[in-house]
Amino acid sequence: MPSLARRLWPVVLVVIVACGRKPAAAPSAYADPRACAACHQEIAASYKQTGMARAFHKATAADAPETPFVHKLSGRKYQFQKREGKLFLQRTEEDGGNAIEKEIQYVLGSGNHAKTYLHKTPQNRFLQMPVNWYPREGGYLAMSPGYDRADHMDMRRTVGYECMFCHNGYPEVARASSADDPVYAGAVPEGIDCQRCHGPGREHVEKPGKGNILNPKALPKARQQEVCMQCHLEPTSFPLPNAIVRFEKGVFDYNPKEPLSDHVVHFDHAPGSDRAEKFEIASSAYRLRQSKCFLASGDALTCTTCHNPHAVTTQFDAACSGCHKTLAASHPAAKKDCATCHMPKRRTEDVIHVVVTDHKIQRPPAKKVDWLAARTERHETLGTTSYQGEVALYYPAKLDSDLYPAVAQVMNQSNLKAGIPRLEAALAKQQPGHPAYYVQMAQAYHAAGEMAKAIPYYKKALEKDGSYLPAQRSMGATLAQMGQLAEAQAALEGATKGHPEDSLSWLELARVYRQQQKGADALVAVRKAVLLEPELVDGHVALGMILLDGGDRAGAETAFRAALREQPDQADAHTNLGNLLNAKGSLAEAEKHFVDAIRYQPRNVAARYNIAVFLANLRRFADAIPHAREAVALEPGNLNNRDLLGNLYAAGRQWREAVILYRETLKMNPGFPRAQLGLGTALGAMNDFAGARIYLTQAAQSADPAVRAEAAELLRTLP
Ligand code: HEC
Ligand code: HEC
Ligand code: HEC
Ligand code: HEC
Ligand code: HEC
Ligand code: HEC
Ligand code: HEC
Repeated sequence: MPSLARRLWPVVLVVIVACGRKPAAAPSAYADPRACAACHQEIAASYKQTGMARAFHKATAADAPETPFVHKLSGRKYQFQKREGKLFLQRTEEDGGNAIEKEIQYVLGSGNHAKTYLHKTPQNRFLQMPVNWYPREGGYLAMSPGYDRADHMDMRRTVGYECMFCHNGYPEVARASSADDPVYAGAVPEGIDCQRCHGPGREHVEKPGKGNILNPKALPKARQQEVCMQCHLEPTSFPLPNAIVRFEKGVFDYNPKEPLSDHVVHFDHAPGSDRAEKFEIASSAYRLRQSKCFLASGDALTCTTCHNPHAVTTQFDAACSGCHKTLAASHPAAKKDCATCHMPKRRTEDVIHVVVTDHKIQRPPAKKVDWLAARTERHETLGTTSYQGEVALYYPAKLDSDLYPAVAQVMNQSNLKAGIPRLEAALAKQQPGHPAYYVQMAQAYHAAGEMAKAIPYYKKALEKDGSYLPAQRSMGATLAQMGQLAEAQAALEGATKGHPEDSLSWLELARVYRQQQKGADALVAVRKAVLLEPELVDGHVALGMILLDGGDRAGAETAFRAALREQPDQADAHTNLGNLLNAKGSLAEAEKHFVDAIRYQPRNVAARYNIAVFLANLRRFADAIPHAREAVALEPGNLNNRDLLGNLYAAGRQWREAVILYRETLKMNPGFPRAQLGLGTALGAMNDFAGARIYLTQAAQSADPAVRAEAAELLRTLP
C-alpha cells in the first residue's frame, strides 16, 4: 500500500512526468478477465470472496458513512453526499469557506483493512481523497496515510501506476512508465484478476486445456513466491526507493512467467540501520523472509504453504505442524492457534489505523509488548528527515552490474554524496541506452546543488532520445533556475511541441516567458497548463501573477481564488488576494487572507512583508512590527525588510530599537543610504545631535535623491 505516504513528500525538481515510451505491448495476449469463470466456476466463486478480488471497485452509497469528519490539524471538514445514484465527497474549511466537491467513482481497498476513495477526473487521472475508511472499532473515517498534517495534499494527489499495479488488474494506459503522468484513458478493471497470477490467458481461453497457461505450481518454489511478491514485497513505503521498475519496462509489462528481477529491482535500508525492525502494511513477504522458518528451510516455505490463493482461508496450524512435528516438552501451549503467539497482529508504522499479521515467525518476546499501541504518523522530507545512508540491494540477492544499485543511492537522496560518483562510474562503464539513467544522474547533481553539472547529463539523455520528456522539461527548469532563460525557453518549447499534453511543461514555459517579460506568450502557456490539469494549483497561482502583470485584476482575483479552492493553505495565493482586496478597499477580507497566509506558512517572507505593509498603512504599527521583525529574521540580508522594520519602529517612536536595527544594518552594508538616514533620524529624536549629524551628513551625500533631500532638510533642523 505504501506509496501512499510516498507521494506526499515534496519531490525536488520537477516531478518526472510523461515519458516518450510507446504504449506497453497491447494487452491482446490477455483474455477478458470475466472469461475464466465460465469453466472454472468453483475457483471463481471462492476467489470472488477474497480481498484481492474486491481490491478495486466502483463506489456505491454503502461505501461511505454519513457522519462528517473534521480534521483538526488542517481545519477541514469532510462529508459524503449521495445524489442521483452518485457519491460525492465535499470539503469545506471549518468556517464553511473554500468548499469543493469531487465525485467518488471508485474505491481502492476491500475494506478488510481500509478503503481509499478515488475521484476520476475528466482528464482521466485518479485523485486519491484525503480521508480513508477504516474498519476497526466499528468503522470510522480518518485521514489517509501521510495526510495527518496541517499542509496535507487534500484532493490533489494523483494515483501513480505503481499503486494501481499492486491493487488491480491491468488497466489500459496510454503510456506506462513510472515516470509518466499517470493517466488512465481506457477501461479500468475492477479487482485483481486471475491473469495477474496466471499471466496472459487468451490462448488458453481459445484452446482450453493444460500447458498453455501458467500454473504457478509448475514453477520452482522461489519463482512461485515471486508471483505473490510482485505485489506483496515492499521493504518499506518511506522514501528510499524500495523498488525500481527497470527503465526499459512499463510498470504493467510484468508477466509472472518471467523472473521478477527482470522487471523490478528491490532495495532496503542497510542492514544494521535503525530501520531494521520496521513493521509496515505490505510487509508479509518481507517479514516472512526474515523468519528462521524461511531461512532454514531452503525455498520450502512459500505463501501457498499457508494460503490458498483462491480463497480467504488460511491453514496455518497444519502448516506449522507439518515442519514442527514435535515441540519441546517445555513448550507453553497446546498444538493449536500457533499464529496467536508466533505471528501476532500488529499496528503498522506507515498506516497507523491498520493492524496486520506479522509474518516474521519468531519466539514471542520474553517481555510482553503491546503490539496494538496507538501511534502518531511519521512524516519524512526527502534529503533531510528521510533515511540517510546506504541503500542496500534486497531482491534479487545479486545483480551483474552496479547500475541500479547506484541509481538507488541517489533516486530519493538517501545516499547522494556517495551515490553520485558511483552512478557516474556505472554510467561510464555500462553506457546504457535508455535516457532515464542520465536523467537520474542529472537530477542527482541538481539535488546536490550542482546545477551546471546536471546539464550535460540532460543533454546526454536527449542524445539517446531527443523527445524524452523528463529530460526536456527538467533541463528547461534547471536552465531557468540558472538564469539561462533563452536556453530554458528552447528546451521547454521542445517539450511542449513534442508533448502538448504535458501540463507541467506548459507551466515551466509560462514562467520562463514571464521572466523575460513576454506576457502574452506566458498567458497562452499558463492557460494551457491549467486546462490540461485543473488541479494544478501552481498553475492557477502563476496565471494570477501573469494576469496581474497585465493589469487584469479581476482575472487575477479569480485565478487566486481557484488556487485556494483546490489548496486552501496556498500562502502565495492568500497574499496576492490580500493585496488585490486591499486595493479594492475590502479591508476586512484582505486582512483575513494575509492572516491565513501567515498561519499556513509562517516562514514565507513575502507574506510577512505584505501583511506588515498592509497593517502599517492602517497605522497599526504595533501589529505590523512582529511581522516585519520575522521577515528580517528569516532573511537577514534583505535590505527592504530592514528598511520596513526601521520605518515601523520610527512610526511607533521606538527609537532605541530603531538605532539597534540600523547599526546592525550598516555593519552589514555600510553604504545603505536609507539606513544612514534612519539612524540619523533616530539619534536626533533621542537628542544625540552629534551622532545624528554624522549619519545625516553621510545620507545627504548618497546617490538616492529622495534620501539626499530628506537628509538635507533634517540637517537644517538640527540645533
Ligand atoms: C508494492 C505493492 C503496493 C503498492 C505500490 C501499494 N500497495 Fe496498498 N497494499 C498492498 C498490499 C500487498 C496490501 C495488503 C497488505 C496486507 O493485508 O497485509 C495493501 C493494502 C492497502 C490497503 C488496505 C486494503 C485492505 O482493506 O486490506 C489500501 C487502502 C491500500 N493498500 C492503498 C494503497 C494506495 C492508495 C496505494 C498507492 C498510493 C498503494 N496502496 C500502493 C500493496 C501495495
Ligand atoms: C473454455 C473453458 C475454459 C476457460 C474459459 C478457461 N479455462 Fe482454464 N482450463 C480449462 C481446462 C479444460 C483446463 C484443463 C483442466 C485439467 O486438465 O485438469 C484448464 C486448466 C487451467 C489451468 C491449469 C493449467 C495447467 O497447465 O496446469 C489454469 C491455471 C487455468 N486453466 C486458468 C485459467 C484462467 C486464468 C482462465 C481465464 C483467463 C481460464 N483458465 C479460462 C478450461 C478453461
Ligand atoms: C493471487 C494469485 C492467483 C489468482 C488471483 C488466481 N490464481 Fe489460480 N493459482 C494460483 C496458484 C499459486 C496456483 C497453484 C496452486 C498450488 O500450488 O497448488 C493456482 C492454480 C490454479 C489452477 C490449477 C489448479 C490445480 O489444481 O492445479 C487453476 C485452474 C486456477 N488456478 C484458476 C484460477 C482462476 C480461474 C482464477 C481467477 C478466478 C485464478 N486461478 C486466480 C494463483 C492464483
Ligand atoms: C496484483 C497484486 C497481487 C498479487 C499478484 C497477489 N496479491 Fe495478495 N493481495 C494484494 C492486495 C492489494 C491485497 C489486499 C487487497 C484488499 O483487501 O483490498 C492482497 C491480499 C491478500 C491476502 C489477504 C486475504 C484476502 O482476502 O485477500 C492474502 C492471503 C494474499 N493476498 C495472498 C496472496 C498470495 C498467496 C499471492 C500469490 C499466490 C498473492 N496474494 C498475489 C495484491 C496481490
Ligand atoms: C517449511 C517448514 C516450516 C514451517 C511451515 C514452519 N516452520 Fe518454524 N521453523 C522451521 C525451521 C527449519 C526452523 C529453524 C529451526 C532451528 O533453527 O532449529 C524454524 C524455527 C521456528 C521457530 C524458532 C524461531 C526462533 O527465533 O528461534 C519458531 C518459534 C517457529 N519456527 C514457529 C513456527 C510456527 C508457529 C509456524 C507456523 C505459523 C512455523 N514455524 C512454520 C521450519 C518451518
Ligand atoms: C506460516 C504460515 C503463513 C505463511 C507462509 C504466509 N502467511 Fe500470510 N497469513 C498467515 C496467517 C496466520 C495470517 C492471519 C490470518 C487471519 O487472521 O485469519 C495471514 C494473513 C495474511 C494476510 C492478511 C493480512 C492481515 O490482516 O493479517 C496477507 C495479505 C498475507 N497473509 C499474505 C501472505 C503472503 C503474500 C505470503 C507469502 C509471502 C504469506 N502470507 C505467507 C500465515 C501465513
Ligand atoms: C500461548 C502461546 C503459544 C502458542 C499458542 C504456541 N506457541 Fe510456540 N512458543 C511459545 C513460546 C513462549 C515459545 C518460546 C519458548 C522458549 O523460548 O523457551 C515458543 C517456542 C516455539 C518453538 C521453538 C522452540 C521449540 O519448541 O522448538 C517452536 C518451533 C514453536 N513454538 C512452534 C509452535 C507451534 C507449531 C505452535 C502451534 C502448533 C505453537 N508454537 C503455539 C508460545 C506459543
